[in-house]
Amino acid sequence: MRSDLCSLLGIEKPIFSAPMGGAAGPDLVASVCNAGAYGVIPLWGKPVDQVAAGIDQIRALTDRRFAVNLNLSFAYEDALEACIQAGVHGVSLFWGMEPSAIARAKAGGLVVMSSVGSVAEGQAAEAAGADIIIAQGWEAGGHVWGQVSTMALVPAMVDAVGVPVVAAGGIADGRGMAAAFMLGASGVWIGTRFLASREATIHPDYLTHVLGASEAQTEWYHDLYDVAWPNAPHRALSNSTARAWRDAGAAPPGQRPNEHEIIGTRPGGDPVVRYQSYTPLPGTTGDVEAMSLWAGQGVALVREVQGAAEIVDEIFDEAMTCLAGGPGKPGPN
Ligand SMILES: Cc1cc2nc3c(=O)[nH]c(=O)nc-3n(C[C@H](O)[C@H](O)[C@H](O)COP(=O)(O)O)c2cc1C
Repeated sequence: MRSDLCSLLGIEKPIFSAPMGGAAGPDLVASVCNAGAYGVIPLWGKPVDQVAAGIDQIRALTDRRFAVNLNLSFAYEDALEACIQAGVHGVSLFWGMEPSAIARAKAGGLVVMSSVGSVAEGQAAEAAGADIIIAQGWEAGGHVWGQVSTMALVPAMVDAVGVPVVAAGGIADGRGMAAAFMLGASGVWIGTRFLASREATIHPDYLTHVLGASEAQTEWYHDLYDVAWPNAPHRALSNSTARAWRDAGAAPPGQRPNEHEIIGTRPGGDPVVRYQSYTPLPGTTGDVEAMSLWAGQGVALVREVQGAAEIVDEIFDEAMTCLAGGPGKPGPN
């Protein structure tokens, strides 16, 4: 398969490893790129020298193209300039529609990916010059910008914009990739599945919960994990924090059980408080189960730890089989 998207990005397999704050570092991104797909590294919320260092770390591991992910609800301007200075191939912008950011990135020579949750936003991004629209459905893990499911959002977006649309949310294997292509997507943007890659940097307890969760064990929360990042809806595994909050009447921030309670520490020693937006990293101590265990509804398809390149190859090959009319997985017939 060589889609227009592959030509635009110089890749062989139209699969993106989604940016996952904390979880998707240089090793994951480089492995995905070296496998012929496209990796996206989150470098938002960091000082410029760390942005440059993150780019250098990937370049030490691959000579392939990749993108840097920036969060538009935090200060991003200096990081964007650092990406332009470094001559990075692409930039992925999320959590907000900022036509001036798209225009600046384009003027700086970057390929621009804009994550959106509705057709109106996709059209605004295209009008501002975005090269690729990432249509993120409500099934997605982590912070979720929109309210529409991937199945409904992708074809509506494909009909409404003239640039390639990449499907995000709930896609975790080749069947999902093939389905996204049948809806008109030119690529897939996969997060939760890569949490179970050897290169992902997550705490072993978090990984264990991902590997054991059913499709019904994630929940979308308006503002449950709002500490450090307020007003940002998200999807995570249901856990003891969420259950206690529901049992107490699902109270709004300021009135929840055990607010400000320190439930662990980060690898560097900083505290993690209950309701904090925090991806549990290796070396986190304390009650990891009670932290924000981001995951999408496709988590039920994530049952083993594999290398990131192996995941790319498996998804791609399975999608090819499906699109050629074969079964994605051995079935009863
Ligand atoms: C642990 C985790 C962290 C995430 N962090 C980011 C981020 O920093 N930037 C971003 O644009 N999206 C982030 N996302 C959302 C992903 O980019 C993507 O939209 C989502 O994972 C796709 O759905 P899926 O998890 O069902 O594959 C995150 C998702 C997860 C699971």
